Amino acid sequence: MDSIVIRGGIPLTGDIRISGAKNAALPLMAATLLSEAPLEISNVPRLADIATLTSLLAQHGAEISIRSDGDSQCLTLATPAIANVLAPYDIVRKMRASILVLGPLLARHGEAMVSLPGGCAIGNRPIDLHLKGMKELGAEIRLEEGYVHATAPKGLKGGEIHFPTVSVGATENLMMAASLAHGATVLENAAREPEIVDLAACLTAMGAKIEGAGTDRVVIEGVARLGPARHAVMPDRIEAGSYAAAALISHGKLHLTGARADHMGSTLEVLVKAGARIEETADGLIVSRAAERLHGIDVITQPYPGFATDMQAQLMALMTLCDSAAMITETIFENRFMHAPELTRMGADITVHGASAMVRGVRQLKGAPVMATDLRASMGLVIAGLAASGTTTVNRVYHLDRGYDRLVEKLTACGAAIERVRAAA
Ligand code: UD1
Repeated sequence: MDSIVIRGGIPLTGDIRISGAKNAALPLMAATLLSEAPLEISNVPRLADIATLTSLLAQHGAEISIRSDGDSQCLTLATPAIANVLAPYDIVRKMRASILVLGPLLARHGEAMVSLPGGCAIGNRPIDLHLKGMKELGAEIRLEEGYVHATAPKGLKGGEIHFPTVSVGATENLMMAASLAHGATVLENAAREPEIVDLAACLTAMGAKIEGAGTDRVVIEGVARLGPARHAVMPDRIEAGSYAAAALISHGKLHLTGARADHMGSTLEVLVKAGARIEETADGLIVSRAAERLHGIDVITQPYPGFATDMQAQLMALMTLCDSAAMITETIFENRFMHAPELTRMGADITVHGASAMVRGVRQLKGAPVMATDLRASMGLVIAGLAASGTTTVNRVYHLDRGYDRLVEKLTACGAAIERVRAAA
């Protein structure tokens, strides 16, 4: 397996173009199953997860053409007919977001068979909210041999769904399904992430009638069919936050072009409290340090607009070098501190108690071989490696390939001593 080798201690300077958001692109692509008309999606990042969903959609009957478009890619998807309602275990277990085909298949074709995702490195991650929502829209759901078999032979009908917990994926799945249901659907306690707003904009361009996306109450008036549309994927706020942390930990200064401050409220607020200077430019954000040492701050992860769980590992890496202590509490996913023992191997002082991690700042991290078991944890280790003395080797690079487009190239262009080492065949 490939690894990433970093020689730390070099301040990063220069520009990094922020790619399109993985978490926006995935639901946008799934929306192709709702219509036979072409959907053109530009600013799609080049990531393993995008390739995984491409192959899943293709076996459901989507015809997909991919064209290179500068740094990103442009996908044209059209699904003349649903060829196959089965989303197999082999794909779903690799990428949980595969569950996003459930709503579109059910709404357009009246049937879906989607594998249960199974366990995942950052906790149990059930899909009960997706299923409960589909039932409210009239679907019959059976669980058979590890698969969800959902049927709605007469089509879905609008309903009122109150989510007991906020779920990004369930909100997206239900928004797509309700777009083709008979009558109106109300989603209460909906997720408010910018990616939801991006999906709603694309569905609206396809002819859906959606109001309230970005608030906790979304109303969808079903339509008979959806048509062609073009949509550009929003910039990746988590990638932008990750590079902001890289600028800070390395005592550097990065211009993150394309980053949108209006999507990054709590991340930027936390970074400023920790000692960042953030300047908004016409085209993005410039991130540098306002103080010589970083301040320790306490953070709790929350659904948007709260501090994102997907930024927790990167923030923890930053806090290892703070001037005091930081308490980081994870409320979204259980078992999401697997980077903590790895950071400790690099000299960090971290104590985990249940859902909270106490990080006591140290003066210096030291390079070490490390590995992480999820995407953002891996990025946390890269960020730590950029500041550590000596050499850090991050193993299991395939996690990073899932979510960071051209990571090594982007960091190298800003002066980092980082390379990908190919595993011997
Ligand atoms: C999405 C993001 C992921 C991010 C997460 C939280 C994508 C592709 N992935 O994942 O990067 O970390 O939001 O911001 O957009 N839950 C249930 N039952 C369900 C669904 C969720 O109990 O049916 C729980 C989860 O276990 C978790 C919480 O709800 O504790 C939030 O999960 P959710 O918002 O659904 O995350 P994802 O959509 O999977």
